[in-house]
Amino acid sequence: MSSALHAGNGKITVPDIIRRKTGSSPSANLGGDPHGRKIVCVTAYDYPMARLVDEAGVDIVLVGDSLGMVVLGYENTLPLTVEEMLHHTKAVRRGVRKALLVADMPYGSFHGDKHEAVRNAIRFVKEAGAEAIKVEGGERRMDLIAQIVEAEIPVMAHIGLTPQSMHAFGGFRVQGKTVDAAERIIRDARAVEAAGAFSVVLESIPRELAARITSELRIPTIGIGAGPECDGQVLVLHDMIGLSLGHTPKFTRRYGHVAEAISQAVTAYAEDVREGRFPADEESYHLSSEARERLLAVQRS
Ligand code: KIV
Repeated sequence: MSSALHAGNGKITVPDIIRRKTGSSPSANLGGDPHGRKIVCVTAYDYPMARLVDEAGVDIVLVGDSLGMVVLGYENTLPLTVEEMLHHTKAVRRGVRKALLVADMPYGSFHGDKHEAVRNAIRFVKEAGAEAIKVEGGERRMDLIAQIVEAEIPVMAHIGLTPQSMHAFGGFRVQGKTVDAAERIIRDARAVEAAGAFSVVLESIPRELAARITSELRIPTIGIGAGPECDGQVLVLHDMIGLSLGHTPKFTRRYGHVAEAISQAVTAYAEDVREGRFPADEESYHLSSEARERLLAVQRS
């Protein structure tokens, strides 16, 4: 099932990511990345995309629960199931050889019984080949993070705008804009680090707050809508390459126009079929002249 290379062959591991904490932070004194190289993370949800992003040299491939919205067409991430996430994580596993593969725990898979939550986390590693899992939530996830880490599964935490909390937040809103809210997020950051997370995603929070958290924590911060001071960045692949059909947030930078390219290609194909231009002779198979003659002879008799 797993096509991951062994550590030492260019395979990126959790300790490699921890060492990439940038030099501007306290971990510089603890062996942080001497070159200050930022961590590059992107999402993927299927085999071809996983291969392409891995071969492009990203550090982390995240099978995010954004899968539910950008690929499966749900209105938000809440309906996504463990089975759906496992199915897509397995496909991504087959495409990723070098990057660290992280799978998101979907809504409902870790909110009830803690033993069941740990069993779900184990399924991502055992059945789908994930090397780490991601859970949304800060202080209130401390016990859970500690228990998953205890089960030998590295945890990427996710705080700030956690889309699984959309009803509690009243929508997808920037978080941490008041002093109280910023202090809560700082407490969340300290809590997930203390619980044993190896990195933390900071989503949609003011740049200044993300910079403060980044300089305080010893684990790397990976920002999305959290400014440039984070130790790394993550984007949803379909937003970044211009393949998502819904609203894209202000923090997304579009590096491609894949939806347009697909539309143009399919429109041109449809026109060619309708006008009899496709397939051409060179796109057709041929009988040998001998077989053609014999077939004609059979038809004539
Ligand atoms: O689901 C997702 O893609 C994510 C990233 C945006 C961090 O959680």
